[in-house]
Amino acid sequence: MTTSTIRTWDLPTRLFHWTLAGLFLGAFTLASVVDEHGPTFHVHMLLGLTLMAAIAFRLAWGLVGSRHARFSSFLYSPAELLRYLKEALARRDRPVAGHNPGSSWAIYAMLLLPVLLVTTGILSQPKNDLVGDIHGVLGKLMLAAVLAHLAGLAFHTWRHRENIAISMVTGERRGDPADAIGSSRPVAALVFLVLVGGWATMVVRSHDRVAKVVKLPGIGLSIPVAERPPEVGGHD
Ligand code: HEM
Ligand code: HEM
Repeated sequence: MTTSTIRTWDLPTRLFHWTLAGLFLGAFTLASVVDEHGPTFHVHMLLGLTLMAAIAFRLAWGLVGSRHARFSSFLYSPAELLRYLKEALARRDRPVAGHNPGSSWAIYAMLLLPVLLVTTGILSQPKNDLVGDIHGVLGKLMLAAVLAHLAGLAFHTWRHRENIAISMVTGERRGDPADAIGSSRPVAALVFLVLVGGWATMVVRSHDRVAKVVKLPGIGLSIPVAERPPEVGGHD
């Protein structure tokens, strides 16, 4: 067993992680506490639309990013997942350098579900109840994936006596020096910040509250951002 502390998660991956966590929790909380017919519901949609840029970056980073951020480094079959879970429960699993088979499946779910959430969120407007219901279910599935993720982290912390949570802040965790990444990739991190920050600014500034659309400049794409129309014949 090795005891070195090695650089594992590059900076773009860490920035993406906390952006995703913040935007998801923000959008989910707003959807749960704000009236969907009310005047602040559009904030829910603007947060979701902002997430699009972060996810797009992460999908590209999964192809060209540093070693442990690449999808090819954490692609595991269902059989490998099952074997890993069995070994972990029997306390026979060995620490894995990057994302382990258990965390990898939760991660793929937490990357795919936001894509489906944004798509169904857009398509549910102005009033498509079926797509709106699917959107709500996807939101709950994402929450379930996050809870599984957190349970996995808690299990890992106990099983390997390693404060794994802090690694998504510092980028460093225990491992074999041969598995370390060479650089935190600060330039790509800057690209991430400019891309997501620029996209967020564009989404917010091009939001037309009267026409109830986000009309993206240059692309000419209009995305409806309308609170649900009040129920016809409702009593509220
Ligand atoms: C809404 C909340 C959260 C979401 C959506 C989320 C999502 C993710 C995703 C997508 C990854 C993969 C990172 C990548 O390669 O791009 C990841 C990994 C990780 N996350 Fe989270 N996360 C959340 C909350 C947290 C919290 C609260 C912590 C710490 C307390 C945390 C710690 C970590 C760590 C340590 C990893 C690397 C784990 C490993 O693969 O072994 N996450 N998370
Ligand atoms: C992080 C991304 C998102 C998450 C986690 C999320 C989650 C949710 C949740 C949990 C609900 C409540 C459903 C219910 O109570 O039945 C909801 C409702 C809704 N969301 Fe999202 N959403 C996201 C992004 C979006 C986007 C990008 C849009 C549109 C541009 C959108 C539009 C809507 C609409 C119109 C509703 C009301 C639908 C209905 O009840 O029929 N959402 N969302």
